[in-house]
Amino acid sequence: MAKLWGGRFQKKTNQLMEDFHSSLSFDQKLYKYDLLGSMAHARMLGQQKIISPAEAEKIVKGLEELLTGLEAGHIELPQEAEDIHSCLEELLTAKVGPAGKMLHTARSRNDQVALDLRMYLKDEIKEIRQLLNDLIRTLLETAEKHLDTIMPGYTHLQRAQPVTLAHHLLAYVQMFERDRGRLEDCYRRTDVMPLGAGALAGTTFPVEPKIVAAELGFSALAKNSLDAVSDRDFVVEFAAAAALIMIHLSRFCEEIILWSTAEFAFIELDDAFATGSSMMPQKKNPDAAELIRGKTGRVFGSLISLLTMLKGLPLAYNKDLQEDKEALFDVADTLKKSLLVFRPMLATIK
Ligand code: ARG
Repeated sequence: MAKLWGGRFQKKTNQLMEDFHSSLSFDQKLYKYDLLGSMAHARMLGQQKIISPAEAEKIVKGLEELLTGLEAGHIELPQEAEDIHSCLEELLTAKVGPAGKMLHTARSRNDQVALDLRMYLKDEIKEIRQLLNDLIRTLLETAEKHLDTIMPGYTHLQRAQPVTLAHHLLAYVQMFERDRGRLEDCYRRTDVMPLGAGALAGTTFPVEPKIVAAELGFSALAKNSLDAVSDRDFVVEFAAAAALIMIHLSRFCEEIILWSTAEFAFIELDDAFATGSSMMPQKKNPDAAELIRGKTGRVFGSLISLLTMLKGLPLAYNKDLQEDKEALFDVADTLKKSLLVFRPMLATIK
């Protein structure tokens, strides 16, 4: 496959190097955002007469067909591409001919990947906010049923004063409400459109980032091109907010695990959210709660990876930044799965 940047090179890339620097295996997750971002970019190029309206139309149509084809599973991504951005550009050019190459006008993969990541994360944050809302609702409903359920309140894990179960559950509502606030805050700083920054110093083409931002539903524009291509603060902020949500889930899980022991015997987990043992049939294991408690560590690990990736980076884009994706994807996926399992596990406890 011809490389976007192959012009000044005489030798082929070493195969080990090829495998090492390719990000397609994980950044293909961004294909939808990459295509939508490219459609907005192409339309803007057409409106600004940077490319002809006919070329813009051809590109947009090609991109739309790629999106439909990929979503239906009719198109496969050529796995030898360096990343999702070059891969889709290659597929577009194969489809619409030389006009496909015009899509790269006034854009670099550096501002493109920043855009894709922001679009992806905005959707993830919206989804996670919804999951948090659902969880808060379940906690409020359960608390309402247990206004008179008396239980021991603990300090030092020693019986201290009696409290109600409602009181205990509402403590978690406070935590998850703070989490929701942190996500909203992080969303505002994710909702910034970086296209137009080019590789690092903008472009001499008369681009109009406002048009792209309006089409893609962004509320703000990046103000400094060097920052636009190298900023991953929003990724760190999200991972930090996710780490705290996992802490809250994990603390709750720890209590559920304790409460379900024969020693405490406060609760019984529903069969649908527990597992058993072949050799010890008396057991009912709280695996879901244990797994959430266990997965909290992966999210902390990703947060530390992201912080470490950024700490020594000179401006502007550096390839180190490619390491942001696996960490971010794993944080979002782990958090969503944990929230999805936690709520019904809690709602079905006796
Ligand atoms: N795959 C790269 C990443 O994820 C995209 C940007 C690469 N840009 C470059 N000039 N090498 O960060």
